[in-house]
Amino acid sequence: MKLTKEQLEQFDREGYLFFPQQFTREEMKALTDEVPQLYSRREAYNVREKGKDAVRTNFAAHMYSKPFAKLARHPRMVRPVMDLFDEQVYMHQFKINGKMAFEGDVWQWHQDYGTWLNDDMMPTERAMNVAIFLDDVNEYNGPLMFIPGSHKKGVVEAKHDLTTTSYPLWTVDHALIAKLVERAGGKSGGIVSPKGPAGSMILFHSCLVHASSSNLSPWNRVSVYLSLCAVSNHIRRFKRPEYIAHRDFTGIECLPDDCLLKDYPVDLPWKDGVPASAMQTTSVPFDEMKKAA
Ligand code: SIN
Ligand code: MN
Repeated sequence: MKLTKEQLEQFDREGYLFFPQQFTREEMKALTDEVPQLYSRREAYNVREKGKDAVRTNFAAHMYSKPFAKLARHPRMVRPVMDLFDEQVYMHQFKINGKMAFEGDVWQWHQDYGTWLNDDMMPTERAMNVAIFLDDVNEYNGPLMFIPGSHKKGVVEAKHDLTTTSYPLWTVDHALIAKLVERAGGKSGGIVSPKGPAGSMILFHSCLVHASSSNLSPWNRVSVYLSLCAVSNHIRRFKRPEYIAHRDFTGIECLPDDCLLKDYPVDLPWKDGVPASAMQTTSVPFDEMKKAA
Protein backbone atom coordinates (compact mmCIF):
# COMPACT_ATOMS: atom_id res chain seq x y z
CA MET A 1 0.00 0.00 0.00
CA LYS A 2 1.60 3.26 -1.19
CA LEU A 3 0.59 6.55 0.42
CA THR A 4 -0.60 9.17 -2.08
CA LYS A 5 0.85 12.68 -2.35
CA GLU A 6 -2.35 14.02 -0.70
CA GLN A 7 -1.99 11.55 2.19
CA LEU A 8 1.67 12.50 2.68
CA GLU A 9 0.70 16.21 2.78
CA GLN A 10 -2.15 15.55 5.18
CA PHE A 11 0.14 13.53 7.45
CA ASP A 12 2.70 16.32 7.46
CA ARG A 13 0.03 18.93 8.29
CA GLU A 14 -2.09 17.05 10.83
CA GLY A 15 0.23 14.35 12.17
CA TYR A 16 -2.11 11.42 11.54
CA LEU A 17 -3.97 9.49 8.85
CA PHE A 18 -7.20 7.53 9.32
CA PHE A 19 -8.03 4.50 7.19
CA PRO A 20 -11.63 3.38 7.91
CA GLN A 21 -12.15 -0.37 7.32
CA GLN A 22 -8.57 -1.05 6.36
CA PHE A 23 -9.23 -4.68 7.37
CA THR A 24 -12.40 -6.77 7.05
CA ARG A 25 -14.35 -8.13 10.04
CA GLU A 26 -13.31 -11.60 8.94
CA GLU A 27 -9.64 -10.60 9.16
CA MET A 28 -10.21 -9.16 12.65
CA LYS A 29 -11.98 -12.26 13.95
CA ALA A 30 -8.88 -14.45 14.45
CA LEU A 31 -7.33 -11.62 16.46
CA THR A 32 -10.40 -10.82 18.57
CA ASP A 33 -10.97 -14.51 19.37
CA GLU A 34 -7.44 -14.76 20.78
CA VAL A 35 -7.70 -11.79 23.19
CA PRO A 36 -9.61 -13.38 26.16
CA GLN A 37 -7.07 -16.18 26.62
CA LEU A 38 -4.15 -13.73 26.35
CA TYR A 39 -5.78 -11.39 28.90
CA SER A 40 -6.50 -14.30 31.28
CA ARG A 41 -2.78 -15.03 31.78
CA ARG A 42 -1.23 -13.96 35.09
CA GLU A 43 1.93 -12.59 33.53
CA ALA A 44 3.90 -9.36 33.92
CA TYR A 45 3.07 -8.48 30.32
CA ASN A 46 -0.62 -8.06 31.25
CA VAL A 47 -0.92 -4.69 33.00
CA ARG A 48 -4.29 -4.48 34.78
CA GLU A 49 -6.32 -1.33 35.44
CA LYS A 50 -5.63 0.29 38.79
CA GLY A 51 -7.38 -1.73 41.52
CA LYS A 52 -9.21 -3.91 38.97
CA ASP A 53 -8.81 -7.20 37.17
CA ALA A 54 -9.56 -5.79 33.71
CA VAL A 55 -6.49 -5.68 31.46
CA ARG A 56 -5.37 -2.19 30.47
CA THR A 57 -2.52 -3.30 28.20
CA ASN A 58 -1.12 -6.58 27.02
CA PHE A 59 2.45 -6.26 25.77
CA ALA A 60 4.41 -8.20 23.14
CA ALA A 61 1.72 -10.68 21.98
CA HIS A 62 3.54 -10.87 18.64
CA MET A 63 6.27 -12.81 20.49
CA TYR A 64 3.96 -15.60 21.71
CA SER A 65 0.66 -15.53 19.77
CA LYS A 66 0.47 -16.60 16.12
CA PRO A 67 -2.40 -14.34 14.94
CA PHE A 68 -0.68 -11.28 16.43
CA ALA A 69 2.75 -12.34 15.11
CA LYS A 70 1.16 -12.28 11.64
CA LEU A 71 -0.43 -8.88 12.27
CA ALA A 72 2.99 -7.52 13.30
CA ARG A 73 4.23 -8.36 9.80
CA HIS A 74 1.17 -7.16 7.90
CA PRO A 75 2.04 -5.06 4.83
CA ARG A 76 -1.07 -2.86 5.27
CA MET A 77 0.27 -1.79 8.68
CA VAL A 78 4.04 -1.83 8.18
CA ARG A 79 4.62 -0.63 4.59
CA PRO A 80 3.12 2.88 4.98
CA VAL A 81 5.58 3.52 7.82
CA MET A 82 8.52 2.18 5.79
CA ASP A 83 7.38 4.49 2.98
CA LEU A 84 7.25 7.52 5.27
CA PHE A 85 10.73 6.85 6.69
CA ASP A 86 12.19 5.44 3.48
CA GLU A 87 13.90 2.85 5.66
CA GLN A 88 13.34 -0.58 7.24
CA VAL A 89 11.48 -0.48 10.56
CA TYR A 90 11.64 -2.73 13.64
CA MET A 91 9.05 -3.34 16.37
CA HIS A 92 9.79 -1.05 19.30
CA GLN A 93 6.57 -1.86 21.17
CA PHE A 94 3.49 -4.01 20.55
CA LYS A 95 0.40 -3.67 22.69
CA ILE A 96 -3.24 -4.73 22.82
CA ASN A 97 -5.04 -2.05 24.82
CA GLY A 98 -8.24 -3.28 26.44
CA LYS A 99 -10.23 -0.15 27.37
CA MET A 100 -12.80 -2.68 28.55
CA ALA A 101 -16.52 -1.94 28.91
CA PHE A 102 -17.22 0.00 32.19
CA GLU A 103 -13.62 -0.63 33.40
CA GLY A 104 -11.27 1.00 30.88
CA ASP A 105 -9.41 3.93 32.46
CA VAL A 106 -8.11 7.17 30.92
CA TRP A 107 -4.87 7.69 29.03
CA GLN A 108 -3.68 11.15 30.04
CA TRP A 109 -2.52 13.69 27.44
CA HIS A 110 0.93 12.69 26.20
CA GLN A 111 3.29 12.24 23.28
CA ASP A 112 4.69 8.73 22.78
CA TYR A 113 8.09 10.02 21.73
CA GLY A 114 8.40 11.78 25.11
CA THR A 115 8.41 8.36 26.81
CA TRP A 116 10.62 6.73 24.18
CA LEU A 117 13.17 9.53 24.57
CA ASN A 118 13.08 9.84 28.35
CA ASP A 119 12.93 6.13 29.19
CA ASP A 120 14.51 4.34 26.23
CA MET A 121 16.91 6.98 24.83
CA MET A 122 15.49 6.74 21.32
CA PRO A 123 17.59 9.32 19.42
CA THR A 124 14.96 11.02 17.18
CA GLU A 125 11.25 11.05 16.33
CA ARG A 126 11.68 8.53 13.50
CA ALA A 127 9.16 6.11 15.01
CA MET A 128 5.40 6.02 14.93
CA ASN A 129 2.26 4.22 15.93
CA VAL A 130 -0.10 2.28 13.75
CA ALA A 131 -3.33 1.48 15.62
CA ILE A 132 -6.00 -0.97 14.54
CA PHE A 133 -9.47 -1.29 16.04
CA LEU A 134 -10.50 -4.82 17.01
CA ASP A 135 -13.89 -3.46 18.16
CA ASP A 136 -16.07 -0.73 16.71
CA VAL A 137 -14.99 2.63 18.15
CA ASN A 138 -17.64 5.25 18.87
CA GLU A 139 -17.93 8.43 20.95
CA TYR A 140 -18.92 6.43 24.04
CA ASN A 141 -16.19 3.82 24.42
CA GLY A 142 -13.17 6.08 24.91
CA PRO A 143 -11.88 6.88 21.40
CA LEU A 144 -8.38 8.28 20.95
CA MET A 145 -8.28 12.09 20.85
CA PHE A 146 -5.63 13.98 18.87
CA ILE A 147 -4.61 17.63 18.74
CA PRO A 148 -4.02 18.07 14.98
CA GLY A 149 -0.67 19.61 14.09
CA SER A 150 0.70 19.27 17.63
CA HIS A 151 3.53 17.05 16.30
CA LYS A 152 5.03 20.22 14.77
CA LYS A 153 5.95 21.37 18.28
CA GLY A 154 8.53 18.57 18.63
CA VAL A 155 9.01 17.22 22.14
CA VAL A 156 7.05 19.34 24.63
CA GLU A 157 7.61 19.48 28.36
CA ALA A 158 6.24 16.49 30.26
CA LYS A 159 6.16 15.13 33.79
CA HIS A 160 6.42 11.49 34.82
CA ASP A 161 2.99 10.55 36.18
CA LEU A 162 3.25 7.40 38.30
CA THR A 163 -0.04 7.66 40.14
CA THR A 164 -3.06 8.56 37.98
CA THR A 165 -3.37 5.12 36.35
CA SER A 166 -1.67 1.74 36.73
CA TYR A 167 0.81 2.62 33.98
CA PRO A 168 3.61 5.25 34.27
CA LEU A 169 3.45 7.88 31.54
CA TRP A 170 5.20 11.16 30.67
CA THR A 171 2.19 13.48 30.58
CA VAL A 172 1.65 17.03 29.32
CA ASP A 173 0.47 19.77 31.61
CA HIS A 174 -3.17 20.97 31.16
CA ALA A 175 -2.23 24.63 30.55
CA LEU A 176 -0.11 23.59 27.56
CA ILE A 177 -2.87 21.27 26.29
CA ALA A 178 -5.32 24.21 26.37
CA LYS A 179 -2.86 26.31 24.32
CA LEU A 180 -2.22 23.56 21.78
CA VAL A 181 -5.97 22.94 21.34
CA GLU A 182 -6.58 26.66 20.84
CA ARG A 183 -3.77 26.85 18.28
CA ALA A 184 -5.30 23.88 16.40
CA GLY A 185 -8.69 25.64 16.08
CA GLY A 186 -10.22 25.50 19.55
CA LYS A 187 -13.80 24.24 19.39
CA SER A 188 -13.54 24.02 15.58
CA GLY A 189 -11.20 21.08 15.09
CA GLY A 190 -8.74 21.66 17.95
CA ILE A 191 -9.43 18.08 19.06
CA VAL A 192 -10.35 15.24 16.71
CA SER A 193 -11.18 11.62 17.44
CA PRO A 194 -11.25 9.17 14.55
CA LYS A 195 -14.06 6.64 15.03
CA GLY A 196 -15.20 3.73 12.89
CA PRO A 197 -15.87 0.01 12.59
CA ALA A 198 -13.54 -2.78 13.68
CA GLY A 199 -10.72 -3.09 11.15
CA SER A 200 -10.15 0.67 10.87
CA MET A 201 -6.55 1.85 11.18
CA ILE A 202 -4.83 5.04 12.37
CA LEU A 203 -1.24 5.98 11.69
CA PHE A 204 0.09 8.75 13.91
CA HIS A 205 3.29 10.71 14.44
CA SER A 206 5.27 9.97 17.60
CA CYS A 207 5.08 13.64 18.67
CA LEU A 208 1.31 13.98 18.12
CA VAL A 209 -0.28 14.89 21.46
CA HIS A 210 -3.08 12.42 22.30
CA ALA A 211 -5.26 11.05 25.09
CA SER A 212 -8.44 9.04 25.66
CA SER A 213 -11.23 9.13 28.23
CA SER A 214 -12.47 6.26 30.34
CA ASN A 215 -14.93 3.76 28.90
CA LEU A 216 -18.26 3.96 30.75
CA SER A 217 -20.11 2.28 27.89
CA PRO A 218 -21.07 -1.41 27.77
CA TRP A 219 -18.79 -1.88 24.72
CA ASN A 220 -15.13 -2.96 24.82
CA ARG A 221 -12.68 -0.86 22.83
CA VAL A 222 -9.84 -3.29 22.20
CA SER A 223 -7.19 -1.80 19.89
CA VAL A 224 -3.73 -2.96 18.84
CA TYR A 225 -0.80 -0.55 18.59
CA LEU A 226 2.34 -1.29 16.62
CA SER A 227 5.08 1.19 17.51
CA LEU A 228 7.48 0.99 14.60
CA CYS A 229 10.91 2.58 14.73
CA ALA A 230 13.37 3.22 11.87
CA VAL A 231 16.18 0.69 12.28
CA SER A 232 18.87 3.42 12.40
CA ASN A 233 16.93 5.12 15.22
CA HIS A 234 16.95 2.15 17.61
CA ILE A 235 16.87 2.76 21.37
CA ARG A 236 20.13 3.20 23.27
CA ARG A 237 19.08 2.12 26.76
CA PHE A 238 17.30 -0.89 28.27
CA LYS A 239 15.71 0.84 31.25
CA ARG A 240 12.35 -0.87 30.69
CA PRO A 241 11.80 -4.64 30.41
CA GLU A 242 12.10 -6.05 26.91
CA TYR A 243 8.40 -6.92 26.69
CA ILE A 244 7.73 -3.14 26.86
CA ALA A 245 10.65 -1.79 24.79
CA HIS A 246 12.08 -4.37 22.41
CA ARG A 247 15.81 -4.98 21.93
CA ASP A 248 15.86 -6.80 18.59
CA PHE A 249 16.45 -4.11 15.96
CA THR A 250 16.07 -6.39 12.93
CA GLY A 251 13.94 -4.87 10.15
CA ILE A 252 10.46 -6.44 9.78
CA GLU A 253 9.95 -8.77 6.80
CA CYS A 254 6.31 -8.41 5.71
CA LEU A 255 4.09 -11.42 4.99
CA PRO A 256 1.67 -11.53 2.02
CA ASP A 257 -1.46 -9.37 2.21
CA ASP A 258 -3.75 -12.36 2.98
CA CYS A 259 -1.71 -13.43 6.03
CA LEU A 260 -4.54 -12.96 8.56
CA LEU A 261 -6.75 -15.41 6.67
CA LYS A 262 -4.16 -18.02 5.72
CA ASP A 263 -1.50 -19.97 7.54
CA TYR A 264 2.10 -18.73 7.24
CA PRO A 265 5.06 -19.77 9.38
CA VAL A 266 6.14 -17.18 11.97
CA ASP A 267 8.68 -17.25 14.76
CA LEU A 268 7.20 -17.27 18.31
CA PRO A 269 10.34 -16.93 20.46
CA TRP A 270 8.41 -16.42 23.74
CA LYS A 271 5.75 -19.11 23.24
CA ASP A 272 7.06 -21.11 26.22
CA GLY A 273 7.48 -18.04 28.43
CA VAL A 274 9.30 -14.72 28.59
CA PRO A 275 13.06 -15.29 29.14
CA ALA A 276 14.61 -13.96 32.34
CA SER A 277 16.90 -11.69 30.27
CA ALA A 278 13.81 -9.79 29.02
CA MET A 279 13.05 -8.77 32.61
CA GLN A 280 16.54 -7.37 33.25
CA THR A 281 16.87 -3.60 33.05
CA THR A 282 19.61 -1.02 33.46
CA SER A 283 19.73 2.76 33.47
CA VAL A 284 23.18 2.76 31.78
CA PRO A 285 23.11 3.35 27.99
CA PHE A 286 24.39 0.20 26.30
CA ASP A 287 27.21 1.86 24.30
CA GLU A 288 28.66 2.97 27.66
CA MET A 289 28.27 -0.58 28.97
CA LYS A 290 30.26 -1.85 25.96
CA LYS A 291 33.02 0.71 26.62
CA ALA A 292 33.20 -0.36 30.28
CA ALA A 293 33.39 -4.08 29.40
C1 SIN B 1 -1.72 5.18 24.08
O1 SIN B 1 -1.69 6.38 23.99
O2 SIN B 1 -0.66 4.54 24.06
C2 SIN B 1 -3.01 4.45 24.21
C3 SIN B 1 -4.19 5.28 24.20
C4 SIN B 1 -5.43 4.49 24.10
O3 SIN B 1 -5.40 3.28 23.86
O4 SIN B 1 -6.50 5.08 24.24
MN1 MN C 1 0.32 6.99 23.40
